[in-house]
Amino acid sequence: MKKIISVFITCILLLSLTACGNGSSNEESSNSSSEQTPAPSVEAQESDSSSEINVSELEEATGNALVVYFSATGNTRTVAQTLSQMQNVELYEIVPEQPYTEEDLDYNNDSCRANLEQNDETARPAISGNIENIEDYDVIYVGFPIWWGTMPKILNTFFDTYDLSGKTIAPFCTSGGSGISRAVQTIEELEPSAVITEGLRTEPENASTDLTEWLNTIGLAN
Ligand SMILES: Cc1cc2nc3c(=O)[nH]c(=O)nc-3n(C[C@H](O)[C@H](O)[C@H](O)COP(=O)(O)O)c2cc1C
Repeated sequence: MKKIISVFITCILLLSLTACGNGSSNEESSNSSSEQTPAPSVEAQESDSSSEINVSELEEATGNALVVYFSATGNTRTVAQTLSQMQNVELYEIVPEQPYTEEDLDYNNDSCRANLEQNDETARPAISGNIENIEDYDVIYVGFPIWWGTMPKILNTFFDTYDLSGKTIAPFCTSGGSGISRAVQTIEELEPSAVITEGLRTEPENASTDLTEWLNTIGLAN
């Protein structure tokens, strides 16, 4: 009888040990399966070599872009900011070394600074600061107000400063009504080895709609 009881107890012990063993292996397998399929994270994608290839391919396909703008009274700034947010690209403001005062911009006065500059073929108002890594960008959006039918002379300074050969320049402007075509013609002359897209004239109130349509037309929509 004792023998039977001891065999019975041994069996129970063996059975419970086997059950524990299975439990722990289930836990491991469920843990390891959750490790293999984590929620996607930027870090995980970056360390995954196949994702790295995709990221660089994407960069090659879309290129790096920069929104450059000059704005004396804020209209073009608003449009430039909207564009930079839409395209998720950096923004660079052309800041004059000598800021334009209200008096400078009084175009009813023939001898105001802006008028004198626009009438002087050689005028190149100085820009404060510079873009150190212009070579990193393939597409440069360039925004400005229209002054006397074309772009302000400080834009000539900008195009004289940087060789944009091989890059795509996408010009946009704000104005009281004048179009951008004269400015685009001048940019073509100043940057003969760049690809200049169709230009856009808009105003802050219509910027989103106009920019979306324009980006589609020139093939730069995201
Ligand atoms: C000196 C000067 C000349 C201008 N000439 C024109 C012009 O020829 N045609 C036009 O439609 N608007 C003209 N404007 C109006 C500006 O293009 C318009 O207000 C623009 O939106 C200003 O942009 P900003 O606020 O970014 O400086 C002129 C403005 C100034 C100050």
